[in-house]
Amino acid sequence: MNTDTLDRTVAPASPDTTATVLQAVALRRDYPVSRGLFQAPAVVHALDGVSFGVAAGRTLAVVGESGCGKSTLARLLTMIEPPTAGQLLIDGQDVATADEALKRQLRRQIQIVFQNPYGSLNPRQTVGAALMEPLLVNGLGNRAEREHQAREMLRQVGLREEHFGRYPHMFSGGQRQRVAIARALMLHPRVLVLDEPVSALDVSIRAQVLNLLDELQERLHVAYVFISHDLGVVRHVADEVLVMYLGRCVESGPRDAVFESPRHPYTRALLSATPTVDPAQRRERILLKGELPSPIDRPSGCPFRTRCPLAFDRCAAEMPPLAAPPGAAHPDQRVACWAVEAGRS
Ligand SMILES: Nc1ncnc2c1ncn2[C@@H]1O[C@H](COP(=O)(O)OP(=O)(O)OP(=O)(O)O)[C@@H](O)[C@H]1O
Ligand code: SF4
Ligand SMILES: [Mg+2]
Repeated sequence: MNTDTLDRTVAPASPDTTATVLQAVALRRDYPVSRGLFQAPAVVHALDGVSFGVAAGRTLAVVGESGCGKSTLARLLTMIEPPTAGQLLIDGQDVATADEALKRQLRRQIQIVFQNPYGSLNPRQTVGAALMEPLLVNGLGNRAEREHQAREMLRQVGLREEHFGRYPHMFSGGQRQRVAIARALMLHPRVLVLDEPVSALDVSIRAQVLNLLDELQERLHVAYVFISHDLGVVRHVADEVLVMYLGRCVESGPRDAVFESPRHPYTRALLSATPTVDPAQRRERILLKGELPSPIDRPSGCPFRTRCPLAFDRCAAEMPPLAAPPGAAHPDQRVACWAVEAGRS
């Protein structure tokens, strides 16, 4: 038994709230796709140079329309797939240069919860067995210790002792997502990537699961990368926000800066489409023209230019870099837009 590694599963991560536990540097992921017998293969640019850092115990929310690359980012962060280019650092360690033993250790530090827990839970495995499995696979503890930890984790996610021997189909959707969260936390990761974790749940259950995630973060100081297309949810959970469009980050910053003073025309359009009960927060609806372009044939220059109400000549010629906008609401706010740079927005 490896006692050193077992200890790491028992003790929560240290409550250092300033350390960057996860850093993405210009992450890119291309997928070659066939276009038929007589055509050259094409390349889907699913993720195109995304950078950010997440500190211990903090939540970075990633938001954007369907197909903008959110799940691709999740797969890279959790080392399910390697990036085509760019760097991923977990606790300051570069994943690409790590040897196999270190890679295994880093993989344990970052776990994922999917939208549909049915997909990640084996229907023929009891919940107790599902929770003990990550410990077993990593050779941690003996049977009694693994069972003790699994029962303890069930309690932490608001389930009961008697749930230990039950099968996934015997749970409600909200309970199943609690099981998926419990399983992801069994190795006490430093980072949890949550890919649309409440999108499949009823509105009433959604708030309970979000509150649970809040409590767990407080207790375990785990960092979250929270992926969602729902800005109402993002507003509730985020410390920092990253807005994506066609595989790129178009705006990022602390939650209040992005929600109260959005600068990118895409962020403004997204926010204007979000229902709000507070009349002071209500914005005139900005309707975007056209469809999301294909990530195979992206527009030249700014990827948003085919739908942007502010587009001008420069937008077709050059890709705007992510930069601090003039008059930023917060020193960490970043926007990729020529109109903003020119003071037109
Ligand atoms: N394995 C793959 N092969 C080819 N293209 C892919 C692959 N995986 C993703 N893509 C493409 O990459 C783009 C980004 O997909 P991704 O699943 O990351 O988007 P998403 O933001 O998670 O969307 P959604 O909100 O619908 O879940 C899409 O155009 C998708 O079709
Ligand atoms: S760079 Fe141009 S096209 Fe892109 S968002 Fe800004 S104004 Fe619109
Ligand atoms: Mg997705």
